[in-house]
Amino acid sequence: MRKLVVAIDGPAGAGKSTVAQMAAKELGFTYIDTGAMYRAVAWKSLQQGKTVTDDLINDVVKDIDIVLNYKEGKTKVFVDGTEVTAAIRTPEVTGIVSQVAALGPVRERLTDLQRKMATQGSVIMDGRDIATNVLPNADIKIFLTASIEERADRRYKEMKAKGYDVDLKKLQEEIAARDKADSEREISPLVQAEDAELLDTSDMSIEEVVKAILDRCR
Ligand code: CDP
Ligand code: CDP
Repeated sequence: MRKLVVAIDGPAGAGKSTVAQMAAKELGFTYIDTGAMYRAVAWKSLQQGKTVTDDLINDVVKDIDIVLNYKEGKTKVFVDGTEVTAAIRTPEVTGIVSQVAALGPVRERLTDLQRKMATQGSVIMDGRDIATNVLPNADIKIFLTASIEERADRRYKEMKAKGYDVDLKKLQEEIAARDKADSEREISPLVQAEDAELLDTSDMSIEEVVKAILDRCR
């Protein structure tokens, strides 16, 4: 197969990382989780100061070393040599990640890194602005979504399984607030690209979504 670039965008809990990882494994492509990179910057900012200001975040992003190690369907995330795969998924990180992702210097540096990562062979990259900004020439562009109720329900089950004591209503509010912040920010907001295909997964199983992506790649 020739080199193929697949861009998957969409809101939180749509299933992007789950299905992208599975499809990448099946196809032998590299999976690039750009959300993990924004989370990495948020994590390091929280490590550095009690109050996370925009200045602190902009300072952190200047020389942060982020490595995404994708192997056999799973991604390990490293910041400055330390593994942070689980640490970047805590509610604390999730709580500030949209503030981090709205800043120009953060987006500039991470977009640059993401474009470099995409030059190595066939890739599936997921995020919020992949089709619109990071890889506008991607061969396949999918905008993955689901109803807010379904997305919150998926996240609820996931957090419960990880042992977090979560409230479904609160989770719904948190996801809605993040959707709003991501969609309304000035730089590279979350929006469906004109040439992207909309895939509403509200009533689809993980396997069905993976199959839909594989069909398009093949
Ligand atoms: O997994 P989840 O959907 O909760 O989010 P994520 O993909 O880990 O992304 C976390 C946050 O990073 C998003 O809410 C966005 O604020 C930001 N992000 C972004 O701005 N641009 C991207 N390409 C990817 C993520
Ligand atoms: O990356 P994104 O935030 O878009 O979503 P995710 O983290 O891949 O998926 C959120 C949760 O929904 C995971 O626990 C998946 O197992 C689940 N999921 C699902 O139940 N049905 C789907 N069709 C896709 C994902």
